[in-house]
Amino acid sequence: MMDGSTQVHVRNAALVADALAGLTADAKTLSPKWLYDHHGSALFEEITRLPEYYPTRTEAGILHANADALAGLVPQGGALVELGSGASVKTRTLLDASGHMGAYVPIDISRDFLFETAEGLRATYPALDIVPVVADFTAPVSLPAALTELPKVAFFPGSTIGNLTPEGAQALLSGVRAWAGIEAFILGADMVKDTQTLVAAYDDAQGVTAEFITNILRRLNREAEADFDLAAFDYRATWNAALTRIDMELVSNRDQRVRVAGHSIDFAAGEPIHISAARKYTPDSLAALAGAAGWDVRHRHVDAAERFSVAVLTPKA
Ligand code: TRP
Repeated sequence: MMDGSTQVHVRNAALVADALAGLTADAKTLSPKWLYDHHGSALFEEITRLPEYYPTRTEAGILHANADALAGLVPQGGALVELGSGASVKTRTLLDASGHMGAYVPIDISRDFLFETAEGLRATYPALDIVPVVADFTAPVSLPAALTELPKVAFFPGSTIGNLTPEGAQALLSGVRAWAGIEAFILGADMVKDTQTLVAAYDDAQGVTAEFITNILRRLNREAEADFDLAAFDYRATWNAALTRIDMELVSNRDQRVRVAGHSIDFAAGEPIHISAARKYTPDSLAALAGAAGWDVRHRHVDAAERFSVAVLTPKA
């Protein structure tokens, strides 16, 4: 690792508290937000380029085909605010189509990665105010005071909405609805489709997704005084038809005891840790989700095969 800072063994109190709560529950869980350390963020960018992982390129195609209409939602001098911006790759399509925006506000939990990305954007878009905000969007996000007056459009691509719990998704949509000056919400959402396509997207042949998910244990070892044997857990992705979601889990491949920050956690052979879910939507389920949070679906931009949709939400009249 180049910067060294992420390799230091510092105890991360929030991670420890969250991990102990999740791993002592009857059905063991770890929050997917811990996947995105510097290495995890880089692995995720690799996932987005995998042959099986259709969402990124499908969404990018939709953004590209509708760039003028989407960028045009941001009023003159207004701000585009992205939740979970990562490397801001797709956003460039909107920034390229807009000569008129005042600010781009990338929000991400991965600090170093966010600041590196912001530097790159400043070089490409010198006329645009780039205002990175380090925040966890699973909690209410407060924007810098300087942005309060600006009209703004939220951008939440990548079907990340589907990685939240239904309550979390609702809370996020309602929270953004309450932002001062909010005019629209551009929401990327993956659609229900055949199981094989869905499962392959989350369990690629090269094993990059397995590596990404397993990295959470490496992070616990480093930042939560844990001693996980990475080889003792197998990655599994399954389609949950009842909940219309992919479940991503690490399954203990033997009976074992793991130490986490001074506590013992016992695993039976075959016992899973649930790490992430990726919910998939239908036009109706998407409209219901938006509607319950005070938004109308003004338009749904889709690809020819209707695998993915980029919805334009506007505040309910
Ligand atoms: N938002 C992405 C999705 O649901 C996130 C994602 C892709 C993901 N692959 C993953 C999250 C693997 C956890 C594990 O498609």
